[in-house]
Amino acid sequence: MNSTHAAGLPFHPYRGYAGLPPLVGLHTMEEAATTGLTVSASVERIKRIHWSLRRLHSILTARIPGTPVYELKMAFSLHAYFCAEHVATFAQRVTEMRQPPYGLEVPPHPLLDVFFDEILAAPSTEALLLGIYDQALPAVVRALENLMADTNRLFDHPTYRICRFALLEMQDALGYGEQAIAALVSENDRTGLNEWLTLLDRSLAAAGGLDGCKPNTEEMIQRQFSAIPYVYDPVPRRDERFKDPFNMGVNAEAMLFDPDIPPLPKTIMLYFKRMREIDVPEMMSSILFEVTGKPWDYYRDMTRQLWDEARHAMMGEVGFYSLEVDWTAIPFNFTWSLGLNTMLTPRERHAVLFTIEQGLMPKKVGKEYEWEVALAASDPLAAMIQDYDWADEILHARIGREWIVPEIGSQVEAMAYGDQAWSRTLVDWKKWKEDGLTSHCNWWPEVYKQACKHWAIEPDAELLAYNATYEGTRADLKNVAS
Ligand SMILES: [Fe+2]
Ligand SMILES: [Fe+2]
Repeated sequence: MNSTHAAGLPFHPYRGYAGLPPLVGLHTMEEAATTGLTVSASVERIKRIHWSLRRLHSILTARIPGTPVYELKMAFSLHAYFCAEHVATFAQRVTEMRQPPYGLEVPPHPLLDVFFDEILAAPSTEALLLGIYDQALPAVVRALENLMADTNRLFDHPTYRICRFALLEMQDALGYGEQAIAALVSENDRTGLNEWLTLLDRSLAAAGGLDGCKPNTEEMIQRQFSAIPYVYDPVPRRDERFKDPFNMGVNAEAMLFDPDIPPLPKTIMLYFKRMREIDVPEMMSSILFEVTGKPWDYYRDMTRQLWDEARHAMMGEVGFYSLEVDWTAIPFNFTWSLGLNTMLTPRERHAVLFTIEQGLMPKKVGKEYEWEVALAASDPLAAMIQDYDWADEILHARIGREWIVPEIGSQVEAMAYGDQAWSRTLVDWKKWKEDGLTSHCNWWPEVYKQACKHWAIEPDAELLAYNATYEGTRADLKNVAS
């Protein structure tokens, strides 16, 4: 045993037994004795960050359908998922420290809401990117850093800990956002939005900063883009790489389940089905925006699923990359998200989603079958993609059973309800053609030829002639009622 310990405690510098760091290394003794916020001050800051993440989550999910750029739809999905997770942990921390009512459902300062309302109503992708990634996220990051610096890491350790984890992901989101701004926002765009960006700064300053630590400037703020309240836009838009969005000319499932067709070409259809899932975040956005008053766990689960579906789309993109197939030659129809978002209620949309996902659980017609096709094709990438896709769908079917089934009744009733609603959105195949929205052209032969080049094989004449459409058959191979 070290004799200095037996002789008494050294105070300068204070040391633990045999030189071990005191206080588990969270603080030096000097820091611990002189740093910290009251519980009240800590709770107030957590509530501000909680509210800001909640508003950011709502902005990111709301703007997925109307933002044309595919990569941004994907980024908004991930960043919304980050926000949803941290909203939950920050809310929980408040409930650990305080008795109800917690005041988590109300804005902590009205001008904080003006700040976020303005970003929600941003009239262009450029303004939206600057609002989210040049204004809101840097303010969230500052608030997290300040709280971590100001609070006592020992006394308020649970707060310190959740801030660290949140900071990690918020910095990731910010890093991506900075690249998005560099790629998509010109100096001219920024100059044109200067006045608005100053308005955002002033709104935040008038609220005492995002975390309320600065003195309020008490300035009266005139709303600009949110002067007329924001109206949610449910119509999906895609960037110029996505052509012919009404095209339902190639029935992927009819090929996938045809026992006479070998597995390898079916991997193209698997990748098509994955990348087509861009339409799921586009659709789930409208559920998240229009369903109000649910517990946060609902929004958290649904946002997790929304992000998973975005991942599925990108898994398809990876698949096409691996086959050296130019996916811009493929029309990824948006008729599902368009139909559901504009023709059905949020409850019907969720039931359709559940019907599809629960319908993918049986062994012979669902996700396991898709995985087996990929395995049989001896393509390890396709197999891995389908393996994870299947795993995700198990969670999604469970999310459906937890949240939408009890709203409707039994599982059988929920599936019948979703089934009927889905068919109602699918009766326009001929009309889209008559209206000149699409010719439902058959994109398959061209794409199949590209993949054959990669596989170094001659295209099969019968497969080149594949020509099954969605005219009378849904993606689950049931007949479309007309
Ligand atoms: Fe999916
Ligand atoms: Fe899913």
